[in-house]
Order: sequence, then structure tokens, then C-alpha cells
Amino acid sequence: MKNILYIVWSDNNKLGIPIIDEQHRGIISTINSLHYFIQTGHEHEIIKPTMTMLEQYTEVHFKTEEALLAEANYPALEEHIALHKELAKRTKKLSIDANRRKDSDMVLKFLKEWWLGHINKKDRQYISYLRKLIDIRAF
Ligand SMILES: [Fe+2]
Repeated sequence: MKNILYIVWSDNNKLGIPIIDEQHRGIISTINSLHYFIQTGHEHEIIKPTMTMLEQYTEVHFKTEEALLAEANYPALEEHIALHKELAKRTKKLSIDANRRKDSDMVLKFLKEWWLGHINKKDRQYISYLRKLIDIRAF
């Protein structure tokens, strides 16, 4: 259906860390754009730049998150970085598949499930560490 958002952002997805919430929302918004272009038949000219944007945005986001987690001495940092590496690799591969316009439903489904799962399960585990960091910075 045209003009229907693929992922509806909800405040339940917020972690309460402003820069992280903003970037998560930006990533979801990019996935929605990808869905929109596919739905409206514009995938030919727009999939490549959208996937490039998603890959780069993902990289920027992971760098932001990892730097904050390192500063906060997050004990599961290595494990979290490994997850990020895995997603960055998968996203690159999906980007190639999407550019060949192979199975776009699978690409969208993977992105949706991975991101919502990551935000609401794995990222949620570091909230208390980053909130402490933000509180310290506020003084
Ligand atoms: Fe993360």
C-alpha cells in the first residue's frame, strides 16, 4: 500500500539518550524511505543511494554508540562491537542484493527485525551506563 510507513516509530523505542534516539530514528526513517521507493516503483534510480545512505548512517551510528560505551566503561562493549560488525557486514551484503533488486521484501524484513530487535533488546542493556555518563557530563 502506498504511503504507509513500513515501521511506525514509537516512543517505546526510545532509550532516553538523546543522540542515540535521534540516530535510531534516522535509521528507521531511512528504512521507511527504502520501502516507500520500492512501493512506488522508484527503486530503479533510488535504491543505490538509499542503501549507501543506510550503510553510512549505520557506520556513523555505531561509531557514536561505541565511543559513548567506551567512555562509560560498558562491560559488554566487546560483545556489542561484535554485533555491530556483524550487522555492518550483513548491511553491505543486503545493499548488493537490493541493488540487484533481488528479494526486496527479504531486505526490508531483515532490516526491520534486526533494528527493532537490537534497539529494544541489546541497546536497552546499556541504558543505565550511558545515563550515568550523561548525568556526569551535565555537571
Ligand atoms: Fe547497538
